[in-house]
Amino acid sequence: MAGYLVDDTRKVTTHRLFEMKQGGKKIAMLTSYDYTMAQIVDGAGVDVILVGDSASNTMAGNLTTLPITLDQMIYHARSVVRGVKRALVVCDMPFGTYQVDPQDAARNAIRIMQETGCDALKLEGGEEIIPAVKLILDAGIPVMGHLGLTPQSINKFGTYAVRAKEAAEAEKLRNDALALADVGCFAIVLEKIPALLAQEVTTSVNIPIIGIGAGGACDGQVLVVHDMLGMNKGFSPKFLRRYANLFDVMTDAIGNYVSDVKSRDFPNADEQY
Ligand code: KIV
Repeated sequence: MAGYLVDDTRKVTTHRLFEMKQGGKKIAMLTSYDYTMAQIVDGAGVDVILVGDSASNTMAGNLTTLPITLDQMIYHARSVVRGVKRALVVCDMPFGTYQVDPQDAARNAIRIMQETGCDALKLEGGEEIIPAVKLILDAGIPVMGHLGLTPQSINKFGTYAVRAKEAAEAEKLRNDALALADVGCFAIVLEKIPALLAQEVTTSVNIPIIGIGAGGACDGQVLVVHDMLGMNKGFSPKFLRRYANLFDVMTDAIGNYVSDVKSRDFPNADEQY
């Protein structure tokens, strides 16, 4: 069990992630949305925990990330922070809270930081969100970028297919990554883009690049914890490696409980007062 646990129990900071990139050490990142899962993920040695707006899908059953609200993200992030000792906790700014007015973006960012105790925020987009990112950074809040397949723009894309396969989109992504790094982001997530493009970006910027469906050259990897634990049977993209089959494990356990209750096996004499 201890094989995969980290020796270094110090709290992970944005500076440590930068040192990991410099030292060629890979960064492991997973999502969490609640206290119990966050305790497990943190205890297993994950470096960065993302309170992703994928909570909209995994926790609330929505088809997209668009419906989740600022208050709901604050609730999830606050629950996660209570369960974490070591990992850097990053919270997604939800759709609509940073795209319209940079000052509103900064106000919403400050609210998330104050009400959750998380360590940093993640925003989707490139050049178009730089004014908002700048004001948030000016408020002293670390920002992680997110390029490639940005799920908050799914209605514009119209598909969850691989992004930036065409030269023009790849060129915009390169420029966006440089702009986010230049303005002062501490890391960037690249989602579902060609591995060669992700490799190029990883070597051309000096901040950590975390990939999801972006190949092995990135400085780190992120997955949605429900997907990698096999809790979600209907989602099987090529990039997903399943490390468990919790859907079946949990269904069996709950089925056994149901039969034990119905057959009067549970509770037995030792399980009562
Ligand atoms: O919300 C999320 O889970 C994410 C990851 C897929 C990177 O943004």
